[in-house]
Amino acid sequence: MELTVNGATHQVDVEPDTPLLWVLRDELGMTGTKYGCGVAQCGACTVLIDGQATRSCVTTVDSVAGVAITTIEAIEQDPEGRKVVEAWITNQVPQCGYCQSGQVMAATALLKQTPQPTQDDIADAMVNLCRCGTYNAISAAVRQAAQA
Ligand code: FES
Ligand code: FES
Repeated sequence: MELTVNGATHQVDVEPDTPLLWVLRDELGMTGTKYGCGVAQCGACTVLIDGQATRSCVTTVDSVAGVAITTIEAIEQDPEGRKVVEAWITNQVPQCGYCQSGQVMAATALLKQTPQPTQDDIADAMVNLCRCGTYNAISAAVRQAAQA
């Protein structure tokens, strides 16, 4: 099967129903995308599929063959992604960091869809779990990225 990840084409020999997360991490060595729950609850595994925030732990690899997949490894090549990362650094958002690649992907998807989000838009979109409780810093960073 052929996957397009961060603009590059990869051939992978896996079962069609393999979760995309396993393929990214174990076949392609892209370990920035994290495994948290495996059942679409936490968002640690969030990637962009055609610009949409998508939980890769429950996305079968055959459903995204030939579609543009973006992971945290390339997010700074995206104009919105770069603004998000810069705002994350300025606001010192991460604590342990485990959830943060998923948070950055979710924030980037939000700004692609809604460049000037309201506080409600941010609350609705930024639903990934953070056990360190960085939610206020996430919200501030999204607002800053939107103004950048
Ligand atoms: S690992 Fe995918 S949502 Fe938790
Ligand atoms: S920074 Fe630790 S889980 Fe979010």
